[in-house]
Amino acid sequence: MSNKTVTVIDNRTNQKYDFPILEPTMGADVVDISTFYQKTGMFTFDRGFTSTASCRSAITYIDGSKGKLMYRGYDISYLATKKTFLDTAYLLLNGELPSKERLEAYCKELKKRSFIHEGMKKLFDAFPDNAHPMAILSAGVSALSTFYFDHLDMDSPDEALEMANRIIAKIPTIAAFSYRYSQGLPVIYPDLNKGFVENFLYMLRGYPHHYIELKPIEIKALDTILTLHADHEQNASTTAVRVVASTRAHPYACISSGINALWGRAHGGANESVVRQLEMIGRVENVEKYIAKAKDPNDPFRLMGFGHRVYKNFDPRATILKNIQKELSEELNLDSELMAVAKKIEEIALNDEYFVSRKLYPNIDFYSGIILRALKIPKEMFAVIFVIGRTPGWISQWIELRNQDNIKIARPRQLYIGPKDRTPKE
Ligand code: ACO
Repeated sequence: MSNKTVTVIDNRTNQKYDFPILEPTMGADVVDISTFYQKTGMFTFDRGFTSTASCRSAITYIDGSKGKLMYRGYDISYLATKKTFLDTAYLLLNGELPSKERLEAYCKELKKRSFIHEGMKKLFDAFPDNAHPMAILSAGVSALSTFYFDHLDMDSPDEALEMANRIIAKIPTIAAFSYRYSQGLPVIYPDLNKGFVENFLYMLRGYPHHYIELKPIEIKALDTILTLHADHEQNASTTAVRVVASTRAHPYACISSGINALWGRAHGGANESVVRQLEMIGRVENVEKYIAKAKDPNDPFRLMGFGHRVYKNFDPRATILKNIQKELSEELNLDSELMAVAKKIEEIALNDEYFVSRKLYPNIDFYSGIILRALKIPKEMFAVIFVIGRTPGWISQWIELRNQDNIKIARPRQLYIGPKDRTPKE
């Protein structure tokens, strides 16, 4: 730890307080205010935690101004173009990329664990038709705790990795089953001869005893989307996982909380909104009208898939997906009206002064929405795909928290604005 400090002066009393500065390996320095209340008798206020580091973490690094994203020190473009989603999941969980042999063993292990207990099918039966797959998925992950209760109070790192494998392997199966049930379609069991991504597409799109032909670019596109979503530092759903974990809740409860947080429109639902908006715009000749609406300060309309809170120059994940979208369109001969609308919006926005001056570039959701649609994945499954991708990140963060000494329960304070004591004096 450095001996640098920040001094806070209370200008009501001229009292000075020193707070230590913690130095990260990369990124902004962090002022340790954990003794702030004890020293000053005041709380700090940070709506939406925009200036607050909530934990120490060695997993993911983001530099929004440079458009940089790294997992365990590896740049996202290296992982997304040279490695697979399962390499990335292994890296997040173990801190190192797997050797060829370790990766093979890891794939085998996940395949072995991809089936769910037959008893769980009763759970799917209990939901009404058209239940949203995200609701079924979060209930399904919670329900895993009733089948694998040996993981509820684990201590050893090996047990934690076994739990991680179990959840990562079963989530695609629960996800695919939830969709098939919501559509009244027969469920398709995992095929042990298929890879992780291919098997998921097969369970989602296939029919029993029917071979579905998938082009390698389709598998690569989904694999890349999962890799790009695998972790993103202390975002809302990861923070939800960590807050629940700080109570020593079991991992299934924590991941289920992450799923529910991710379901929100402002988080995992954005790529679905992109496609809904493109469908609403409908035709290339309507694009100019909607661009004008997006620029009108008196109109709340926003162009979905543009802008990002953290990435202000470009979203590195969007750059990678833009290339995948191009490859996919060429190989699948996608020339739908929706693709033409998307292309036109992208062209205008990248050159229009309004968008350029506000640094409103296409974000990951702009391209992932279009790609998932091209992969024939139904819109209500877009957030579910995000969950499959993010699960290794959530579990890595859960393990990291559990391995830290002196875990403190997450318990923020507040700026109370309610009535003063008005209890009648007896
Ligand atoms: N369309 C039109 N104008 C926009 C858009 C947009 N998509 N995004 C921002 N602006 C404008 C705002 O009106 C504002 O203009 P002003 O300065 O004239 O008032 C300016 O750009 C800055 O906007 P803020 O809302 O302050 O930017 P912020 O960084 O807070 O918001 C956000 C980022 C929420 C992503 C925003 O750009 C947005 O709503 N985008 C559309 C939704 C979307 O694509 N969300 C997915 C984000 S990626 C992810 O979460 C994985």
